[in-house]
Amino acid sequence: MIGRAFPKTDTGLRAVPAKIEIRRRVLEAITPARAMVFDAFAGTGQMWAEVWQHAAGYVGCDERWHKDARCCFVADNRRVLRCLNLQPFTIFDLDAYGSPWEQALILAARRRLAPRERLGLVLTEGTWTKTRMGNGWPGALRQAVGIAPHVAAVQHGLTQTMHDDLIHRAVRAIARQMQGQLVRQWRAIGMTGTRMRYLGLILEGIKRPGAALDAGGSFQLDRAGDQPPQKPSPWTHHGPRNQRQARP
Ligand SMILES: C[S@@+](CC[C@H](N)C(=O)[O-])C[C@H]1O[C@@H](n2cnc3c(N)ncnc32)[C@H](O)[C@@H]1O
Repeated sequence: MIGRAFPKTDTGLRAVPAKIEIRRRVLEAITPARAMVFDAFAGTGQMWAEVWQHAAGYVGCDERWHKDARCCFVADNRRVLRCLNLQPFTIFDLDAYGSPWEQALILAARRRLAPRERLGLVLTEGTWTKTRMGNGWPGALRQAVGIAPHVAAVQHGLTQTMHDDLIHRAVRAIARQMQGQLVRQWRAIGMTGTRMRYLGLILEGIKRPGAALDAGGSFQLDRAGDQPPQKPSPWTHHGPRNQRQARP
C-alpha cells in the first residue's frame, strides 16, 4: 500500500484517523473529479497517501524536500501562495504545526469564489498550545478577527469557548473576503493537552453581490460591501490601528 511508503509522520498518532476522516469528507463534498488540491504543509505525505491521491489534481508545498512521487514546491508556502495562480485549486490543506492563519489570510486575499462555487479548506489550528507556551495569539489570527495586537484580554486565560469563538470569527471573515460563506464544517479536537483543532470547511460563493447568508446567521452587507453589522463583541477594539499587520 502507498501509505506504508511513508512511515514517518509529523502528526500525533491519535489525531491521524480524525484528520483523515475530515479530509475524506471534504474530498467527497467537493467530489474527487473536481478536486484540485493545494497542500501547503505537505510534509511526509501521509494525508496525500490516505486521501489526496484520489483527487483529480494535487500540488504540495513544504520547506523540506521529501523524495517521493508527489508534485511539490520545496519552499516557504507563503511565498508560493503569494505568487501562484490560486484560482484553479478547489481544496486548500493548511496542516500547520501551530497557526495556519497567515497562509489563510494570503488565500483570502488572492482567491475569489464565483457564485455557488464550492471550495474546501482544511485547517490544523494549534493556537491553544501557543498561548499556553506564552507566545500570545498569532498576529494573523488577530488580524483575521480584527483584534488590535495590544489587546491584553486575548493574551492570557482564554477559555476553550473563546478559542472556538475566535476560530469561527476568523473563518467567517476569511469566507467573506473570498466572497463566500461557510456552508459545512467538520471539526475534531485533540485529546492531548495541546487541544489541537482539526477543521474541514466547505465555503460556497455567494449568489449575488450585496447579500450573504452563512452558518452563523444572516446579514445584509453594508454599502462598502464587505462588512456585516457588528454585534458587540469581547474582541472588538476601537483603539489605534498602526501596529504591524501580516501582509497578505
Ligand atoms: C504537520 S506537518 C504536515 C503533515 C502533512 N500534512 C502530512 O500529511 O504528512 C507540517 C509540515 O509543514 C512544513 N512547514 C512548516 N512551515 C512551513 C512553511 N512556512 N512553508 C512550507 N512548509 C512548512 C514542515 O516542514 C512540516 O513538514
